[in-house]
Order: sequence, then C-alpha cells, then structure tokens
Amino acid sequence: EKGGFDHFMLKEIADQPQAIADTLLGRLTDNGIALDEVRLSDQDLRDVEKVFIVACGTAYHSGMVAKYAIEHWTRIPCEVELASEFRYRDPILDRSTLVIAISQSGETMDTLMALRHAKQQNARVLAICNTNGSTIPRESDAVLYTHGGPEIAVASTKAFLTQLVACYLIGLYLAQVRGIMYPDEVGAVVRQLQQTPDLLRGLLDQMDPVRKLSRDLASARQVLFIGRHVGYPVALEGALKLKELAYMHAEGFAAGELKHGPIALIDDGTPVICVVPSSAMHDKVVSNIQEVRARGARTIVIAEEGDESVEAYADDVIRVPRVPTLLAPLMTTVPLQILACEIATARGYDVDQPRNLAKSVTVE
Ligand code: M6R
Repeated sequence: EKGGFDHFMLKEIADQPQAIADTLLGRLTDNGIALDEVRLSDQDLRDVEKVFIVACGTAYHSGMVAKYAIEHWTRIPCEVELASEFRYRDPILDRSTLVIAISQSGETMDTLMALRHAKQQNARVLAICNTNGSTIPRESDAVLYTHGGPEIAVASTKAFLTQLVACYLIGLYLAQVRGIMYPDEVGAVVRQLQQTPDLLRGLLDQMDPVRKLSRDLASARQVLFIGRHVGYPVALEGALKLKELAYMHAEGFAAGELKHGPIALIDDGTPVICVVPSSAMHDKVVSNIQEVRARGARTIVIAEEGDESVEAYADDVIRVPRVPTLLAPLMTTVPLQILACEIATARGYDVDQPRNLAKSVTVE
C-alpha cells in the first residue's frame, strides 16, 4: 500500500503533483474557473462583504496563505482564525459573511463547532474538505472537495497543498464572479496553476540536498524557520512538521518580527531555515537573513531558481522552481515536509504515527 515507500508520509509527499492535478481537474476553463458544484449562487457570492477562514493546525496554515490570495484578488476583507478560538470571542457575523471551514478529515470538532456557531449567526458556510460525506461538508451550505485521495500519515502533506489549490480556486472564482479580475487575468493565473504539478515533479526529483541536510540537523537543539508574506505560513508549517514528527523545538516566525524578540534565541550554529520570496519582499528577507547570520546562525535558504543573490548569505541553499508569489507555498513547503520526515527517521521515530497525536481530532 505504501507504493514502495518506507512510510505513508513519503508516498503522500510524492503523490502531491497528482493530488494537485486531480483537484484542478474539471474546474478550470481557458478563461476562468468553473465551480458549478459549489452550491452557492453567483448572487450569494456577489453579496459577500467579509470572509472568515476557520481551521486548525496545517489547515489553518493553508488559510493563512488563502488570506493573502483572497484579499489580493477579490479586495474582500478576509480574516483567518484558529477554529478553537473563533466562537469564544463573539465574532461579528451575518448573512453577508462567508465562513470558509478548511478540514482534511471533515471531522475536526473545533472546526465543526466554529462552523455551527457561524451558521447560528446566519453566515454562509463553505467547506474545503478532503473526505466525501464527512460531517463538516454535510453541515455546510456548500463544499469544494480537495481531490487528494486518502491521507493516512498523521502529518498532513498532500492535504495542505490541495487545500491551497482549493483556496486559490475560490479566491479566483470570487474575483471572476464579482468582476474584480478580467477573464484574461484569471486565465493567466489558471495557466500558472496548471503548470504546478509538473514543476513539483521536477522539484521532488531534486531533494537529495535536503536528505543530506537532515542528517546534520538531526542533533540540533532547536530549528527556527523564518519567512514573510506567504512565506510566513510556510515557516509555521515547516516548524509544525518538525515538532510533530521529530519532537524537536522548532518555531516559525515572520522574519520582520525577529528583532522584536526571537533573535535572542540565536547563538552559534543555530539552524535557521529561511523562505526567500522573489517578490517585493525579497530584499527585506535577505537583510533579515543577514541579521541572523551575523549572530552565528547557520542559514539554510529556500530560494527560487535563478536567484543568485543567495550565495552571499546562505550556508546551504535549497532550490525551488520559480512561480508567482502567491503560488510559491506550493513549492516552498515541499522541502520542509521532506526535511521533517527525514530528521524524524534519522532520530528513529515513527513517521506515520507520531506520539500523542491522532489523525483526526474529534474532541474539543
Ligand atoms: O482534518 P483536519 O484538516 O481538520 O485536521 C486539522 C489538524 O488537526 C491537522 O492539520 C494537524 O495539524 C496535522 N497533524 C498537521 O500535520
């Protein structure tokens, strides 16, 4: 069943190009997005004045990325919130609020309770879910399924990437229906999305440097992750993977926050994994990396192909294909998944069944 891989997690990482292709299948046209299956009328979507995304863990990280994309493409205010916090602060919700609940399993109790709360307040609820007929989509007004196939490993990998794809589709669809983006603008992003499975296949073939690196990092006392913009949720996701699989102290930070406290954690040789964007943020992140290096950090840089500036400040470089900024998490997350998996293996832990964790958390 593991298809020749040692762990389900490795198989599921390798499945990601196909999972993305399957999630896109039938939903793209030459000049836009076709989401007829989502049972919200175009009028409902035009009436949306505010978007809330609720989710837990890895799914929450996909929601953080989605916020950047949805606000950029639609200009609708969008907030992301941990499902376990959402209802306790009495959020302001009404008929014009779209609540997007993201869940691989569709059974996460915190997310379910958040969506029930949203429905009681008359908000419309759209689920992004990987499990057909599970509770969260059943209780939602509408659902967009990710077609990732069953995810067995406790650590979420292909669910994350397909959740990102589903979020992009919803963001673009909202922009299309509301006339915020022209069809050719939507079409341009659609074509870029269509290329991602092939780019990801190429990336997966080049992960030997990550495997080598994992042997070095297996004995580190802590590993820090930094990123900005959509690289920030990727940093959080990289740290979560390392915590849950390798039981190491790992933290993700928004790179701009370092100087407000976390930089004190850095001493000689502390590994800092840096997600570098190609966008407007590039030079800012580079100066954040120089700051940590000046304090002794070992800088492990995830940079796009063609970005030659890295040689000046990187102790190790991991290359990923160049894609538009908002889509970059589809690439930059993958080396971090492999790194966590390999470090856990090097430390002798059960990758598919980490201690203290369940695949689906059905209690609050
Ligand atoms: O099934 P869900 O997507 O609702 O699960 C949410 C989290 O429990 C889940 O993503 C968890 O954080 C993963 N184990 C992370 O790898």
